[in-house]
Amino acid sequence: MKTVITYGTYDLFHIGHLNLLKRAKALGDYLIVAVSSDDFNKQKGKVCEIKDTDRMEIVKAIRYVDKVIPETSWDQKIDDVKKYNVDVFVMGDDWKGKFDFLKDYCEVVYLPRTEGISTTMLKEEIGNK
Ligand code: CTP
Repeated sequence: MKTVITYGTYDLFHIGHLNLLKRAKALGDYLIVAVSSDDFNKQKGKVCEIKDTDRMEIVKAIRYVDKVIPETSWDQKIDDVKKYNVDVFVMGDDWKGKFDFLKDYCEVVYLPRTEGISTTMLKEEIGNK
């Protein structure tokens, strides 16, 4: 069984998120998604519209997702990869190169983002109405 892992905020869940998760799952058999906690976002100076427990529930309900775990720090990735015997680490290509240090532990794949949508864009558009 091939295990895939990906990380993200998944605030205001949108089609770019769905496309990413669908393509991530297609790279293996079992997809783990680490969803950033509200505390971790606070450390990053990021504020979400949707609280972490709800973001996790939404991601968990996606048919491509097998397991959801919280992302609570920048440096949990190596431990997660070892703990869950991860074969493939996947992120959107906005993160290209940033996680190449994981290549010592598993395959690292950056997928092209869906164009024309992001949580930031949605927030701005809603804010302007
Ligand atoms: N993603 C994607 N295509 C998009 C938006 C996001 O493939 N149009 C991917 C990201 O590359 C990441 C995952 O979805 O691997 C979760 O992204 P996240 O940062 O939660 O969503 P964004 O919409 O990029 O949020 P923000 O605008 O706050 O950065």
